[in-house]
Amino acid sequence: MATIHDVAQRAGVSPITVSRVINRSGYASQETRERVEAAVAELGYVPNRLARSLRSKRTHTLALVLTDITNPFFTTVARGVEDTASDAGYTVIFCNTDESENEEKKYLQVLLQQQVDGILLVPARSAPDSIDLIRKQHTPVVVLDRRVPSGVEVDTVRCENELGAYQLVRLLIELGHQRIAILSGPLGVSTAEDRLAGYRRAMREAGHAAEAQLVVYGLFNQASGAEMMRQILELEPRPTGIFAANNLIGIGALHAMQEAGLRVPEDMAVVSFDDLPPTLLTSPFFTVAAQPAYEMGQRATQLLLARLTGDASAPCQEIILPTELVVRQSSGQPRG
Ligand code: RIB
Repeated sequence: MATIHDVAQRAGVSPITVSRVINRSGYASQETRERVEAAVAELGYVPNRLARSLRSKRTHTLALVLTDITNPFFTTVARGVEDTASDAGYTVIFCNTDESENEEKKYLQVLLQQQVDGILLVPARSAPDSIDLIRKQHTPVVVLDRRVPSGVEVDTVRCENELGAYQLVRLLIELGHQRIAILSGPLGVSTAEDRLAGYRRAMREAGHAAEAQLVVYGLFNQASGAEMMRQILELEPRPTGIFAANNLIGIGALHAMQEAGLRVPEDMAVVSFDDLPPTLLTSPFFTVAAQPAYEMGQRATQLLLARLTGDASAPCQEIILPTELVVRQSSGQPRG
């Protein structure tokens, strides 16, 4: 098997230059880079990552622990993470917890044994416990998407969930809707709670009664969105507006309305948190509060890499990104 010395000899450079080119760290001219890459290809050289990590005590591997990568929001976050990590010479391990604290703890224990260099965490619920577990191994961690309880010091990147929800519900109110239901995510998850708070603030400021039956709780998935929507459709009279607390709930709600023969927005207006990639819909349809998902992944990874390479004792940062209100067909006006 070819070694780094064989590659260096073939390319006419030192072994450290070969290492710099392969790890994309330090300077190497384009001509040198091309010579080394040609030698690697000709010799079929495969870097021995284990040997390198034993020397450097770095595995050049990060982990992104999130709840559901099949959700287009998290898919886009993961892309922002991987692009940023790869540019810095790191690979990324992805883990799905499905909002389960047990799954989260299981994955964190495996990742820490694998000695990943840093962890990006979308906490299912018990963020402080998970952060303690990671910190006990002196591994840098950044929290994405969700808030951590006050007093917990950790770098965080998330969005303006309360304001984004407030703006969506405010839009429906300004279009004339008075009875608006929320299909909420699970309590105990900060994004669900913040979006519910935005809904309640918009309804309160408009003087609309807070009807308990217009607030239903479920999970951040399509099946739960459809189930919550069916509950709402049994109400008499039905509300004229729906706020879906995330993209998958919104899609599930749409399926339930189609099952019931209802048209959107003619029979019922719908707004949803999170945008959906246009490729997923025949035409962009939902009025949404769009989160900058790619930028969230990018900024969180930049924070983590700064922790890895810079001053680990610097004060923690909380980066809150704005959502964008995108008005489309689904938010129409109430009939009559
Ligand atoms: O659709 C994903 C979004 O909804 C994320 O903010 C996640 O926290 C869920 O609430």
